[in-house]
Amino acid sequence: MNQTSQKISASALRSLDHLISMHDLHTDTVRGILDRAEEIDRGELSPNLRGTVAALLFFEPSTRTHFSFETAMKRMGGETISMSGTGTSSVTKGESFADTIRTFGLYSDIIVIRSPVEGAARFASEIARVPVVNAGDGANQHPTQALLDLYSIRACQGRLDELSVAVVGDLKFGRTVHSLVQALSPFNPKLHLVSPPHLRLPDYLLDRLRGRAGVTEHTDLAEVIDEVDVLYVTRIQRERFADPEEYEQVKNCYIVDCEMLRGAKPTMRVLHPMPRVNEIAPEVDGSQHAYYFEQAKHGIAIRQAILSELIRGNANGIENETNREGAI
Ligand code: NCD
Repeated sequence: MNQTSQKISASALRSLDHLISMHDLHTDTVRGILDRAEEIDRGELSPNLRGTVAALLFFEPSTRTHFSFETAMKRMGGETISMSGTGTSSVTKGESFADTIRTFGLYSDIIVIRSPVEGAARFASEIARVPVVNAGDGANQHPTQALLDLYSIRACQGRLDELSVAVVGDLKFGRTVHSLVQALSPFNPKLHLVSPPHLRLPDYLLDRLRGRAGVTEHTDLAEVIDEVDVLYVTRIQRERFADPEEYEQVKNCYIVDCEMLRGAKPTMRVLHPMPRVNEIAPEVDGSQHAYYFEQAKHGIAIRQAILSELIRGNANGIENETNREGAI
């Protein structure tokens, strides 16, 4: 790593109080987070968060995001307190969201929140006295997923610039897609947006991409599969459909199997934020193209990078130093 990227890495999130949307992040900040995660992965950097607590508030189901945040804190010597759903909390007694957030802000050094409500993380960041990380707000944004997706793309392709990327599936409701297309746009990508007609990427996002990325829209995946470097497959977001009938009509619209991948570039990699339902056949798991489990693993280093920068940047006298030799 050269001097410049070390400097960027060291100040990756200093200027940020919260991580709510990809839209808030400068490209240098993004590179800084990826570099920091890489240093952590290589064992060159061991952030120490001993004595700190992360509140993990998940008002929607989660496996990878919740538990990679938890693992990330534990790897750095920190602790977590968790809420999954609202069943055991005072929310069931009628306590407001604002009071819940205020309270967790008193017990922790950072709040990680997932909610079905768009804008919930932004609202929480206006109330809490500690940094807030958006772990998914409705169909809006999922910035930590986009950062780990970029990290995975850079790891499997050796670069981020000028890649041809197909994003496939539910582009309307998929928050990981919304964050990822924004995250990729500074890197001069060719973006192929593949979806059924009524699950297209929302216009406000297409407008933001205009002039920043080469964008084409498709309904047929076969049109692009042979030319892409990355195939980013997503689940149709059943829980966001008002009409279950409509979901039934599109639920199996794209199924990636080995036959479909026959003409793909040997270096092409398939990514998926997971969970998958039927959109990637299990037979693909053993192929050279599968990268989604490595991708899930990268979530730990990325979240270590984010948590350590945000907690350190906002700490007053908390002991949380880093060194290059190993944990303190
Ligand atoms: C995604 C999410 O929650 O948006 N999952 C994840 O965080 N890895 C994708 C999805 O649920 O389809």
